[in-house]
Amino acid sequence: MSCQKLIIEGARPLSGEIKVQGAKNSVLPIVAASLLCEDETVLENCPHISDTYTSCRILNHLGCRCKFSANTLVINPKDTDKTDIPDELMQEMRSSIIYMGALLGAFGRCRLSFPGGCELGPRPVDMHINAMKRLGVRVLEEYGAIECVCPKGLTGNKITLSYPSVGTTENIILAAVKAKGETVIINAAREPEITDLAKFLNKCGADIKGAGNSTVVINGKDKLHGCTYSIMPDRIAAATYISAAVCSRGEISLKGIDISLCESFISVFEQMGCSIYVYDGCIYVNAAKKLRSGGKIITLPHPGFPTDVQPVVMAAVCKAQGITIFEETVFENRYRHVDSLVKMGADINVVGKAAVVTGVEKLYGAKVSATDLRGGASMLTAALGAEGITEISEICHIDRGYENIEKAISLLGGKIIRK
Ligand code: EPZ
Repeated sequence: MSCQKLIIEGARPLSGEIKVQGAKNSVLPIVAASLLCEDETVLENCPHISDTYTSCRILNHLGCRCKFSANTLVINPKDTDKTDIPDELMQEMRSSIIYMGALLGAFGRCRLSFPGGCELGPRPVDMHINAMKRLGVRVLEEYGAIECVCPKGLTGNKITLSYPSVGTTENIILAAVKAKGETVIINAAREPEITDLAKFLNKCGADIKGAGNSTVVINGKDKLHGCTYSIMPDRIAAATYISAAVCSRGEISLKGIDISLCESFISVFEQMGCSIYVYDGCIYVNAAKKLRSGGKIITLPHPGFPTDVQPVVMAAVCKAQGITIFEETVFENRYRHVDSLVKMGADINVVGKAAVVTGVEKLYGAKVSATDLRGGASMLTAALGAEGITEISEICHIDRGYENIEKAISLLGGKIIRK
């Protein structure tokens, strides 16, 4: 896919109001979950991002019909007649492993290729596979493909996760909602996107209790019906726009998102000296003055500080007074944006899982290349606070998770073009 470039003229304080898009990490599992329904599902507040388009291509391959207009995605699973996803589709989107649980839950079988590692590290799926085996699935791994069969149908079980993996928790829920009997997930991931998936499935007639907590109980049902559901707002996109305001010393307000969804990271921006408060249903952010460092930031599973917000907060602290120390505990290789920030004049030293950022007076525009989704977002927010012109190439990474990013930034007064 040919990637375009973003050209940003920085050091212009952002201002204005922006509506936060629907959450990428909620729409992806919910689109997969629509396979479990007997009839049509209507998803509102769906973001126009390439991962949503990839999801529609996967559903179309399986025989589903999808209609995506404005921000509403209508899915009709009635003609689904396949349970395999070819390698080229699996490789387009790492999170397509989520179709393992959805296809097993819907049809009791699936054949997927191993979703490749990605820029963040090897991204193994051992926990996914072990969890499916606990539900009675026979898993054959050969020549890079995963063949799952369950001749007697899935049977509920108790599954203890060694790590609260988001995708594994979602795959278990998707496989268990139509399994025979009760499934209990111990040490489940607690991310808000999991709660959104459970709310969608319960609206379709499932029986899921405890989503958002460490123990989730699912009682299997014979059939699920479709429903109309509005996807939750994207808290990571919200953090990205707050970082853009901080980098550019601007003041913005975010519409369409409740501040309770941002609790795991908002305190870091407040510690830096941003004034953030809720006003007339919006999150109001004033970052006009020189800010302090973020102190010590450790990424952790929810409700800890989100790993997805680490790259954009790193951009935000590059010009803050003092030293900010990051410890990335979730992914092995999530500092790939550091080289580009250093190229723009940042003072950052990476030692193993730690990254030490010493604030500098200014950043300067440079030619950089997006390395991954949130790393690319980090370069974009840093560019908004840099003197001169920044050119970001490989922006297909950014387009995976941000809806029309240049339109959003332009609405806030940023000078940015795509070419
Ligand atoms: C989800 O990825 C998100 N993606 C990620 O967002 C997010 O960073 C991550 O959760 C953590 O919050 C989607 O929701 C589509 P994990 P996921 O399973 O499910 C290891 C973004 O930028 N692990 O909780 O893949 C894994 O390697 C993306 O929006 C195993 O070892 O995350 C990682 O180190 C990036 N074996 C850690 O657990 C397994 O079987 C956390 O992974 C599964 C995971």
